[in-house]
Amino acid sequence: MATFTLPKNSKISGKGRTHSAEGGDRVKKFKIYRYDPDTGENPRYDTFEIDLDDCGPMVLDALFKIKNEIDPTLTFRRSCREGICGSCSMNLNGKNGLACTTAIDDLKGEIRITPLPHMEVIKDLVPDFTHFYAQYASIRPWLQTVSPTPSGKERLQSPEQREKLDGLYECILCACCSTSCPSYWWNSDKFLGPAILLQAYRWLADSRDEMTGERLDQLEDPFRLYRCHTIMNCANVCPKGLSPAKAIAETKKMMAERAI
Ligand code: SF4
Ligand code: SF4
Ligand code: FES
Repeated sequence: MATFTLPKNSKISGKGRTHSAEGGDRVKKFKIYRYDPDTGENPRYDTFEIDLDDCGPMVLDALFKIKNEIDPTLTFRRSCREGICGSCSMNLNGKNGLACTTAIDDLKGEIRITPLPHMEVIKDLVPDFTHFYAQYASIRPWLQTVSPTPSGKERLQSPEQREKLDGLYECILCACCSTSCPSYWWNSDKFLGPAILLQAYRWLADSRDEMTGERLDQLEDPFRLYRCHTIMNCANVCPKGLSPAKAIAETKKMMAERAI
């Protein structure tokens, strides 16, 4: 359920630490959200000055530089460093994105980095994805069939049937869209949010899946699907250029068509 004030212990307070650069012609300031539950202290912003001539081009490179050379306690997720795993999603100057595919030069002025909004924070830039993954599991994100497996061959698709999965299968579950969606902010306990609904449509659109009716039944609920009010933040923010809003609209269309 939505809460409109922050709990006392999550308000940003206290002076952050500043780590100044020792020189350099292209010094950039990174203001980074810090939170460590073990200290009992409220979150703070620490400032790190980095000489861009001595740093890789991406925001993730700067985070690594800070962790390796200035403050090893800085905590963030990453794995592939090429926009495939979805681990390094965070909020960069007010917009969700992937640290590994966002160029430092594309962000103007001081760069403020916070965890994805409206998720519980485990430490620093690491949000808790437990609820998000539970919602993902709830849509049964795998091929479901009732007919016997064809002997000696796979379940085939025509090129046209396969094409229907374009714009869906590329989702890396980074949650940039869901955590940009105002409806998800206020109702994430019941609304599945754009990422999970795009994934749900990925299986509705798959010609090989034989549980379409059951999948639609599961979404037929005032909250799970219908809390989307087509605000479009999700499509504007997706680092893979996908449109969860379009997938949601297609799902609503399937609902309407089966009701006729
Ligand atoms: S279009 Fe729907 S899912 Fe996307 S941000 Fe808006 S309300 Fe959320
Ligand atoms: S739709 Fe885009 S923003 Fe949303 S989880 Fe998938 S890749 Fe991330
Ligand atoms: S590290 Fe994998 S998407 Fe950024």
